[in-house]
Amino acid sequence: MRWLVTGGLGFIGSNYIRLALRERPELSIVNLDAMTYAGNPANLRDVETSSRYRFVKGDIGDPTAVDSAIGDGVDAIVNFAAETHVDRSILDPEAFLRTDILGTHVLLEAVRRHNIARYLQVSTDEVYGDVSEGESREDDPLRPRSPYSASKAGGDMQVLAYWTTFATPVLVTRGSNTYGPYQYPEKLIPLFVSNLIDDQPVPVYGDGLQIRDWLHVDDHARGILHVLEHGALGEIYNVGGGNPRTNMEITQLLVNGCGRSMDAHVRHVEDRAGHDRRYAIDTAKARAIGWAPVVPFEDGLRATIAWYQANEAWWRPLKSGEFLDYYKRQYAHR
Ligand code: TYD
Repeated sequence: MRWLVTGGLGFIGSNYIRLALRERPELSIVNLDAMTYAGNPANLRDVETSSRYRFVKGDIGDPTAVDSAIGDGVDAIVNFAAETHVDRSILDPEAFLRTDILGTHVLLEAVRRHNIARYLQVSTDEVYGDVSEGESREDDPLRPRSPYSASKAGGDMQVLAYWTTFATPVLVTRGSNTYGPYQYPEKLIPLFVSNLIDDQPVPVYGDGLQIRDWLHVDDHARGILHVLEHGALGEIYNVGGGNPRTNMEITQLLVNGCGRSMDAHVRHVEDRAGHDRRYAIDTAKARAIGWAPVVPFEDGLRATIAWYQANEAWWRPLKSGEFLDYYKRQYAHR
C-alpha cells in the first residue's frame, strides 16, 4: 500500500505521516512538499531514513511535480498542503488562492488521470464562518470570512464538485483548531509558549473572548486516518476536539504553565480584521463511523508546553529571518 501525502513537512501532515507509518506497517508514503516557510524537514527527522518514506520537493500546483511524486501509482492522496495562517492571508491573500484552490484542482486532475482510489482533502471548521450559537454540521452552508477560509472553502467546493461531476472518489475532513508538537510558532499556542519561555509579552487580539474548539494533533491525525479508511466517498466529516475555550482561557493556561504572570505578559492589541468570534462543530458523523478524540485537553496542553520547553532547538531557528519580518509586519503597529 502506498499513499501520497502532500504538505507532509507541515504541522499536521508531519504528525500524520509519523502516526500512519507507525500504525500501518505495510504502508509506504511519498511526501510531496513545496518547503515553504512552514514546511520544515526537522519535523520528520525520525522517519526520513525509513525505507517506507520518500520525500519529493515540489508544489501541488505543478502537475509535473505531482506526476513525479505519484510515480507508477499510489492507492490514495491525502492533501495537507495549504497556506493556513489567517493573519498572513490578510497581509498577502494570493498565495492562499494559488495553493488552496488551484493546487487542489491540480491534485483532483491527477486523481482522475491516474485513477487513484481515494483522495482526502484536509479542510477546516473555519469554512463555516463565525457561528454565534450551536454547532456547524457538514451540510451547513459555508460562510467563510477571511481570505484563508474563503480559499479553503473554494478547495472544498472543487473537491465536492468533482465527486458530483466525475465521481472522483473524494473525502473531506474539517478539523478544528489543532495544537501539539511541531506547530509553526506563528499560531496562537506555539507563539505564546515560545514568547513566554523568552519572558516576552503575548499579543491577545481584542478582548480575547473569541472561542475556538481545541483538538490535539494526534486526535486530528487519527481522525484523518480513520476517515480515509472508513469514510463514505463523497462525504464530509467534522473532526473536532470538543474543547471550546476562549483565547483568554488559553492564555491563562499557557501563562501559568510557563510560570509567568498575566499582568506582566498579556498585551491586548488591535483586533484581527474580520475576526471570527466563535467556531464550533458537531462531530456526530465522524463518531458514527468510529472515531472520537481521546486526549484530555488540560493533559494535552501541559504536554505541549513541556514539548516546546524541551525542544527549543526545534523552534528557536524558526523565530528568525522571515519570521521576524512577518512578526514586525503583523504586530509592530499594534
Ligand atoms: P490562530 O492560531 O491564528 O488560529 P485561527 O485564527 O485559525 O483560529 O488563532 C487562534 C485564536 O487566537 C484566534 O481567535 C486569534 C487569536 N490570536 C491572538 O489573539 N493573538 C495572536 O497573536 C494570534 C496568532 C492569534
